[in-house]
Amino acid sequence: MSDINEVGTTAFAVACFREMERNREHRVFDDPYAQWFVTDEIREKVSRVTEILPESVEILRYRFCILDEIIRREIQSGMKQIVILGCGFDMRSLVFKTEGVRFCDIDQPALLEFKHKVLESQGVTPCASIPCNYLEVDLPEELIKAGFDINSPILFLWEGNSMYLPVELIHSFFDSLCARIPSFKIVFDYYSLSIIDKTCENPDVIRAANMFQETFNVTWVTGFDDLSVFEKRHGMEVEESMELLEVGKRVAPEGAASIAALAGVYNYGILSYGDT
Ligand SMILES: C[S@@+](CC[C@H](N)C(=O)[O-])C[C@H]1O[C@@H](n2cnc3c(N)ncnc32)[C@H](O)[C@@H]1O
Repeated sequence: MSDINEVGTTAFAVACFREMERNREHRVFDDPYAQWFVTDEIREKVSRVTEILPESVEILRYRFCILDEIIRREIQSGMKQIVILGCGFDMRSLVFKTEGVRFCDIDQPALLEFKHKVLESQGVTPCASIPCNYLEVDLPEELIKAGFDINSPILFLWEGNSMYLPVELIHSFFDSLCARIPSFKIVFDYYSLSIIDKTCENPDVIRAANMFQETFNVTWVTGFDDLSVFEKRHGMEVEESMELLEVGKRVAPEGAASIAALAGVYNYGILSYGDT
């Protein structure tokens, strides 16, 4: 675990937010595995943020919920290959286990090693995985080696990653995917620029954002106000792009009403490339 870098340790925090859902009466997503990856130390660190901004718990559950909805929908529409970039302790390969659908976890080697140890101790066989820095390897080639068909559609989940990566690296990475994979979608969450440049008008949001970054020793460097940059630069199509708050209004209106102050800060999007 000590070899997991700072961005990797944020995966424990996400598992902690996921774990909180099990105490809810009205669950908007289901992840019975998150608790396997959470310690009291992580719970204490996460509570430093949620004490400043309790709304963060709400907005994150909308993120988990909408990504689940999209996966469910894609599988129903026939998607057979789901690749989870920077997977952390995402357990959707098990939650959405479906005959004929292949999942691949991708994350830094130390994190995957830790995840696999935990899974094995629980008697669970991990899904296929590629331990790597996905920005540094030839990912299409690695997917082929792992038995994936890059000429058939692929759904990439890219959750909790975009804010940590310099925008130019994101564009180079997308260039490398578009060059080799004829048909794919990327589902991701992203902050608005006001979070990155700290111009957001809600001081509690800024304080909580600072607290998260200080506690986990990470920096959020990239946000977007408009995804059309991906259309212009890569020929991708923005299939969906919406505030997570709007998801909340639909799936849990009772909670969403209380977090109106988070309007305009946190979003999800689906980009598609080729004939999807
Ligand atoms: C905030 S966590 C999110 C984990 C997971 N996607 C989730 O939502 O539960 C970010 C994860 O992305 C991984 N990650 C970020 N950049 C990466 C890269 N370039 N290569 C491999 N893994 C990366 C980190 O190691 C970490 O596990």
